Amino acid sequence: MKKPSMVSFLITLLLAAAFCTHGKEPVKDTAGNQVKAGEQYFIQPVKPDGNNGGGLVPAAISVFRFCPLGITQSLLSNQPGLPVSFGFLSSVTDTIVNTSTDVTIEFKSEIWPFCKDFSKLWAVDDESSSAGEKPPIVIGGKPEQPNSQFKIEKAGERADTYKLTSLTGTVGVSPGIWGTQLVLTNDDAKTILVKIKKVNNDASTATTSTSRVEKFGLRMFPFY
Ligand SMILES: *[C@@H]1O[C@H](CO)[C@@H](O)[C@H](O)[C@H]1NC(C)=O
Repeated sequence: MKKPSMVSFLITLLLAAAFCTHGKEPVKDTAGNQVKAGEQYFIQPVKPDGNNGGGLVPAAISVFRFCPLGITQSLLSNQPGLPVSFGFLSSVTDTIVNTSTDVTIEFKSEIWPFCKDFSKLWAVDDESSSAGEKPPIVIGGKPEQPNSQFKIEKAGERADTYKLTSLTGTVGVSPGIWGTQLVLTNDDAKTILVKIKKVNNDASTATTSTSRVEKFGLRMFPFY
């Protein structure tokens, strides 16, 4: 009687595998277009009450430790956030970003006055956070490291809302010194829902003078 159970176990496994592959689908931006690696987007929090607040910007996570910077939701609701781009492991040649697929997330800014020794890649700070503490999401990741890989998963009621997950948890929020800070958590109530908005590189922004862009860039750092 061992064989049938083994067979049904294998069938279950196969079904699960089929379901998982099926679960991959192109991530869509707020305009309904496929999100592509290398292009620039704002990752913007979406709250159930519609009071979404500002976009995501780099900020120190503690008064005792400045670098690497963490990631905070801007307190200014008209602040779109600092653009990011998505990337893949070097073995991937495609550019379509799918759900349930490892991606790197990198801030894109010409202006980066602080922590210049660190990369602009997002990472889970699983080393310096002590046990029981929620590891913060920080900047300074390394492209091929597991703690710098995130997955974008569908979440929430709307078609264009997502959550970010890593190998060891889900990206959520926790109170920080500059407002709401991104951390890794397994508490569903703390999960942050986001939408992905393409950065508009049309003629109107192309004519923006460098100094305006610079000021804009500096305003991305809430403590500056
Ligand atoms: C995303 O999925 C599409 C098909 O749905 C596939 O063609 C593409 O290669 C996938 N992207 C990556 C990076 O694997």
